[in-house]
Amino acid sequence: LSKITPEWVRSRKDAAQKIAALTAYDFPTARLLDEAGIPILLVGDSLAMVVLGYADTTSLRLEEFLPHLAAVARAKPRALVIADFPSGTYRTPAEALVTGKALVQAGAEAVKLEGGVEASDAIRTLVGAGIAVMAHIGLLPQSAGRRFRKVGRQSEERERILADARAVEEAGAFSVVVEAADAGLTAEITRCLRIPTIGIGSGSACDGQILVFHDLVGLFPWFRPRFAEPKADLAPLIREAARLFLAETQGKASPAPQRDSRL
Ligand code: KIV
Ligand code: NA
Repeated sequence: LSKITPEWVRSRKDAAQKIAALTAYDFPTARLLDEAGIPILLVGDSLAMVVLGYADTTSLRLEEFLPHLAAVARAKPRALVIADFPSGTYRTPAEALVTGKALVQAGAEAVKLEGGVEASDAIRTLVGAGIAVMAHIGLLPQSAGRRFRKVGRQSEERERILADARAVEEAGAFSVVVEAADAGLTAEITRCLRIPTIGIGSGSACDGQILVFHDLVGLFPWFRPRFAEPKADLAPLIREAARLFLAETQGKASPAPQRDSRL
């Protein structure tokens, strides 16, 4: 089995087998998902919420993000390691290039940033510098605040998102995440573009699907997106293991203080 590359992902456009992508934020998870055969591991800025406990993704700093990216890269997966740009680290094409180089230095084999038309200059600059870019259109968590809603239902927004899709392809992105977009619109984007679309909460008519790891395995039970179909329910298992350890430890503790003649 050979290493997954951006070119491989691009070649999966309209393939019978769709592209599966999951997020990973640490070494063991990256290894496990790679051993399962997942071809794309995204070190997403969802890290901010599902691992670091922030209320949204905008508080995440690059210095907090890089160690997680490096940990995933240390797993040396067959999977393609893609790193998100944290919020506020790509406000100009020049800043995007500086950040992009830092991400590559930390182990990213491709990068992902949010935005369509407005991000296309940054995408073009990165691709020109030899850094492969996955785009991200539709709902953009870094600028949406905490209003997570379906986008692309009315015609004006629809046209804007279609223009975003065309712009990121034109700028050289090798694929594009389409988040929380109307399923019909997503199907249209998937038909229009020559690069693969990777959907999340955008229906099934994409070239691939991406999911946050914690949503896949039920590891963030306090918030579950409606579209996520968990394949495991780990939170109760962890609570139960901790309770067993607690009971075992308390049960074995002697009621009286232990006397040790040597102390
Ligand atoms: O940060 C993230 O996890 C993402 C995916 C959900 C697309 O950007
Ligand atoms: Na993200």
